[in-house]
Amino acid sequence: MGIESFDLFNPPSDFIDNVYTYYNLLREKSPIHKNSDGSYILTSYKDLVGVYRNFKIWSSDKKTEFGAKFGASPLFEHHTTSVVFADPPDHTRIRKIFQQSFTPKSILGLEKDINKLVDSYLVMMHEKKKFDFVSDFSFRLPVDVVCSVLGIPSEDRHLIRDWAHKILGALEPKLTPKQLDEGSYAVVNFKQYLKDQIKFRKTHKDVNKANEILSLLIEAEGLELSETELLHQCIFMLNAGHETSTNMLSHGLNELINNRDQYSLLQKEHRRIDTAVDEILRFQPPIQINNRRCLEKTILGDIIVPEGTSVHMIIAAANRDPSQFFEPEIFNISRSPNRHLSFGLGIHICAGINLARLEAKVAFQGLLSSFKEINLLKKPNIANRIRFREIKEMQVEVSSF
Ligand code: HEM
Repeated sequence: MGIESFDLFNPPSDFIDNVYTYYNLLREKSPIHKNSDGSYILTSYKDLVGVYRNFKIWSSDKKTEFGAKFGASPLFEHHTTSVVFADPPDHTRIRKIFQQSFTPKSILGLEKDINKLVDSYLVMMHEKKKFDFVSDFSFRLPVDVVCSVLGIPSEDRHLIRDWAHKILGALEPKLTPKQLDEGSYAVVNFKQYLKDQIKFRKTHKDVNKANEILSLLIEAEGLELSETELLHQCIFMLNAGHETSTNMLSHGLNELINNRDQYSLLQKEHRRIDTAVDEILRFQPPIQINNRRCLEKTILGDIIVPEGTSVHMIIAAANRDPSQFFEPEIFNISRSPNRHLSFGLGIHICAGINLARLEAKVAFQGLLSSFKEINLLKKPNIANRIRFREIKEMQVEVSSF
């Protein structure tokens, strides 16, 4: 297949295994690429930055696309109510409510708890020696952390994992009727679960803590937030706060194992941890695609596109654009500057940046100082998903010092 006929809704059969090769080719040969449905695939760093910054023209509101995709379903209600898919003034109003929980100072206060969690998993890993890194580490940490940041019992992590998978899975470019049903069912169950949690908090006021997101959102209910908005922000945060970080940790370890010199360098020189975390995020962005739709006729490169045109912004391609990154195909934990787009940019830039970076920092420092070596027992299993780059399973063996 020539890259000219590439279609994101019907990619080649080897796409998941060679995703960066295809995206590099698109960026080189067809950086503003027309997809089969008339939308455009953007792959250059400069074009993504331009769209992210111009939120007045490039809207995040998905009511048009999701109306066609989800119909009048619970999935439609969820994905059109959460902050990430809202434009100002709704976006500004909602983001302001939980912003204070994500300041660098609030997040630093979590470092001790995150260290404790990581230590407890490391003890178990020392005992087991061979295990699935995803279920025993990279999924557990983010979900335990996001449950505690929101104020949800982490014993329910498996319910949340399953619901998140189904709700976020429905954002893939192509959707089967089964995915639609499962996603909608997950939204209904997740909402009921949260209603019970909120009812408990309202009747046990002593449980509410300052700065805990659920308490802040409950406080805002009826004032700046409706009940439906409250429920969907919680669902979004619980989902967005763990799927992404889980994949950052899984891919991070995988890249360090595949690049032994970088593993040893980080093990010897812990001061490189901050640049290492950003390189992991650049090299394997957990969210590979963001979307926007233009509210008026506008210009993309040298093309004039009509109002209502949608774009797929390929973070995975922009993060390897040689006009922005020196030797982009090389995984270099010392890379600086590293202005990757894995957290997006502009008004919707990820609210959880500081939290995600802290999780990664504590996790990799703990792993590399606890184990002399970590080896793969077999090739990690990459999920057949385009929007989220997910490692489903990663069997590893650890050896102590
Ligand atoms: C490695 C981990 C993470 C990655 C790669 C990531 C990535 C992203 C990206 C790309 C966006 C922008 C979407 C857009 O512009 O359309 C975003 C938004 C968001 N993320 Fe994250 N995220 C991560 C972790 C987290 C965590 C831990 C939380 C919270 C617990 C979180 C909460 C949010 C929220 C609330 C938004 C919406 C912000 C807005 O619309 O104003 N994220 N994230």
